[in-house]
Amino acid sequence: IKRRQFPPDFKFGASISAYQHEGATWVDGRRPSTWDAFSHAHPDRIRGRTNGDVATDSYHLYKDDISLAKQLGLDTFRFSLSWSRILPYGKLSGGINQKGIDHYNNVIDEVLAQGLTPFLSLVHLDYPQILEDEYSGFLSTRMVDDFRDYADICFKAFGDRIKYWVTINEPRTLILGGYDVGDMAPGHCTSLSNWTCDAGNSSTEPYIVAHNQLLAHAAAVQLYRQKYQATQKGIIGISMNADWIIPYSSSKGDIQAAKRALDFTFGWFMDPIYKGDYPENMKRYVGDRLPRFSKQESTLLKGSYDFLGINYYTTQYALDRVDYSDPRHPNGYDAHVQLSFVRNGQVIGPQTVTLWMTIYPRGLYNLLLYIKDTYQNPLVYITENGLPDSGNYTHSPLEAPPDDESRISYLQDHLISLRRAMKKGANVKGYMVWSLLDGYEWTGGYEWKFGLYYVDHFKAPSIRIPKMSAIWFRKFLKRIN
Ligand code: GCO
Repeated sequence: IKRRQFPPDFKFGASISAYQHEGATWVDGRRPSTWDAFSHAHPDRIRGRTNGDVATDSYHLYKDDISLAKQLGLDTFRFSLSWSRILPYGKLSGGINQKGIDHYNNVIDEVLAQGLTPFLSLVHLDYPQILEDEYSGFLSTRMVDDFRDYADICFKAFGDRIKYWVTINEPRTLILGGYDVGDMAPGHCTSLSNWTCDAGNSSTEPYIVAHNQLLAHAAAVQLYRQKYQATQKGIIGISMNADWIIPYSSSKGDIQAAKRALDFTFGWFMDPIYKGDYPENMKRYVGDRLPRFSKQESTLLKGSYDFLGINYYTTQYALDRVDYSDPRHPNGYDAHVQLSFVRNGQVIGPQTVTLWMTIYPRGLYNLLLYIKDTYQNPLVYITENGLPDSGNYTHSPLEAPPDDESRISYLQDHLISLRRAMKKGANVKGYMVWSLLDGYEWTGGYEWKFGLYYVDHFKAPSIRIPKMSAIWFRKFLKRIN
């Protein structure tokens, strides 16, 4: 696959996020986020018992990181703001931290000075812990107002230079990790867990948290459109993680199960922002535990995106489970579906070091065509796609570039799949790799290495070493190829 097979204005980029890369958690007025609290309270739920206190120290090294992106030949630099730096006390009434604003102004200016386009998320899985302590964060509708205030500050401060806004990154991951499995902040979970759970009721909480995230998203979009968009001329959307789903067999039950699984994962967020309501399947199976939108909320949600950010990593089989009474399943909720990577003893694709993904490039093609056909072909940016490695290479990274051939194939195969979907009409305008740098992979700690650049977080968090994939990507991005 060659870059010239993509349209000339197609944007390539790479992503990082605040908690996963910045470090400097106590610097310049920042106060704890949900992830500071969680990683320190529950090291047992994280590989290596680690936290993001230092991460890749990108708070201090942002210029280096942006120049790495520049050297690769990228067009966009995707990152997220730390709410806890901008409003350390969560709310407007707690005061704006000017040092936080100054920092992000510097980052944005540097991105632009290097000729890159910033792609910015307001929230990427962490937010001020104080809001959790005070009213249980996204379990409360008060979060909607506080998120809107926070968004307002960000649009006002940065919107003159930001043309691509993401409100919330991966709202579903917050739910799965934070309110069901319990391996992500704020750590509520079901009986599934090996851990002693924090308070939580997994039969209702995920639905409430999803609902309030959707309302918060819609409130921020409305504000942007009413107050800023005409002058700032940016576009705004949401980034959703979307696995592709294949029926386990050709039986009617499994085909319906696959559709249900899509409704309970992607549709859970996509249907409300597309048509102002949850998928019929969810209403039917969840019943009155599923919150409903008022008329006004529904109107607000409907069409609340100029583009969709899609984070694609993996595909699973869906198996019909008519009588799914096991309360411990982490993914199916009430969908009566069992998701699986294995069918008749065969895995769907090569396995990776994480438990949650195997490799299936064609899923990206199928997903993009499904989105095109089901949701009127929206403008899409692939905001994440990438592969973890384990950090075991044939040479020490200090002697030779880490040999991550599998990442090169992964990226190539997904680009081929993406290109095929675009040829069939999918309206995709950009592709961003997760991640520019090995970072703090939430429950994976520093053990799942997603970077194009290698970082040894313990011995030398400030040193970045290009992996073979970075060298490949740089060649790919040279327009002459
Ligand atoms: C997200 C993702 C990322 C992860 C990536 C690889 O919320 O966008 O969870 O932060 O690092 O998916 O695990």
